[in-house]
Amino acid sequence: MMRSIAIRLAVTFGIVALLVFSLSGYALYQTLAQTLAKQQEDDLRSKLEMAERLVGDVHTVERWDELRNTLTTITTTDGNTRFWIACDNTALTYGYPFPDRNHPRLGSDIKSLVMEGSPDPMKTLGRTLRPLPDFPEIHLVVGVSTGPATHTLRAFMIALIAITFCGIVFVAGFGYMVARFGLRPLARLSAGAQTLSPKNLCQRLHLSPPVSELMPLTASFNGALDRLETAYSQLQGFSADVAHELRTPIGNIIGMNQVALTRERTPEELKETLQSNLEELERLRAIVNDMLFLARADQGETASALIKASLAGEVAKTIDFLEPLMEEKALSVDTLGDAEVSVDRALFRRAMSNLLHNAIQYSPAGAQLRVELRRHADSVEVAVSNPGAAIPPEHLGRLFDRFYRADPARALSADNHGLGLAIVKAIATMHGGTVFAISHAGVNTIGLTLQARG
Ligand SMILES: Nc1ncnc2c1ncn2[C@@H]1O[C@H](COP(=O)(O)OP(=O)(O)O)[C@@H](O)[C@H]1O
Ligand SMILES: [Mg+2]
Repeated sequence: MMRSIAIRLAVTFGIVALLVFSLSGYALYQTLAQTLAKQQEDDLRSKLEMAERLVGDVHTVERWDELRNTLTTITTTDGNTRFWIACDNTALTYGYPFPDRNHPRLGSDIKSLVMEGSPDPMKTLGRTLRPLPDFPEIHLVVGVSTGPATHTLRAFMIALIAITFCGIVFVAGFGYMVARFGLRPLARLSAGAQTLSPKNLCQRLHLSPPVSELMPLTASFNGALDRLETAYSQLQGFSADVAHELRTPIGNIIGMNQVALTRERTPEELKETLQSNLEELERLRAIVNDMLFLARADQGETASALIKASLAGEVAKTIDFLEPLMEEKALSVDTLGDAEVSVDRALFRRAMSNLLHNAIQYSPAGAQLRVELRRHADSVEVAVSNPGAAIPPEHLGRLFDRFYRADPARALSADNHGLGLAIVKAIATMHGGTVFAISHAGVNTIGLTLQARG
């Protein structure tokens, strides 16, 4: 499911607004309810005091009717305020509906009294008096309806809900717009990224003015572009190199055949031409095989046929194989150290063969070569050294590049197609290791490391 950051932010803002509005609304509502209740009680008390004064003004039984009239006048017509007088002597009672004198709700505390025919209860407060010495005890009760307060609270609640709803809609909508505005640099970045293509690989993403939150993103994206550009140009260079490397042997084959065909040839002469063709074709096959190997390594193929082996043993077998070449140049070789690790033995021997081939080729006759095997905590180092002309530092780092030869004159030689060390590097990588090249005091040391497994 696709998710929108702007919508998510807007929903979050909306939820926060809901929380803030409802909490403050609740607090306001409670405050108002308490203030109203307090006002009602004060009202009740002052009305009771007033009624008490009126009753106190009655000095004779004859004036009792006068009191009734006064109470009726001040009883509001909507029935929000009421007075009752309860007495054993029914001639003195007042108020309708007549409350039971012993009604538990009519006391000296504030009570709630549900009135028949009225949805809102009344708050009542009562007092027992004896207005005249020869009068019986009377119970004077005042009631104030809670209706107006309830209505005010209800209106307030409705207003609160409406304000909360509008507030949420406003905050979420505003949040959405702000988020959209804030995300605009991202849209610009994406527009910039859309224009990238192999034709303009040098292009980089940049935001002006810069946006601090997006700087790490642009930086890492541009870093990836840098690597891509390098890889892409290497690849382009590689294709050009491949074409160049293949052109020479193919040109040779065509040339030899053309020469052979210029006139009648003896079978011996034709055989010689075929022989030369075969050599060139073998050279082509070697280049193509090496390139295929490198292509597979590029695709992430790793060493799979791992077998625990003594590396010194593998080196010795490789040296046996190269013995004839070494004899030609009267070279000798020392193998120092050993390590038991899991390697793909065929690949390891191929790497050793490439390194030793170079050592044989680039050392003077009669030299002493050396293979050193060193075990480290989590890797094994294999170094092949030979005396020879110093390799200039600018070449050292590039020896492992494909088709790279420190001495361009060598390019013409049939055996040197410049992929030997590239393959050593690929084999090291396939074993989780790396390569190194050191030229020091007339000795060139080139080698690889392997991850020590088992
Ligand atoms: N032992 C060595 N001593 C001096 N130079 C070396 C040695 N090994 C490799 N090189 C340099 O590294 C280059 C690349 O080596 P390599 O990939 O094996 O290609 P190639 O041997 O086919 O030229 C060689 O052309 C050479 O200049
Ligand atoms: Mg070589």
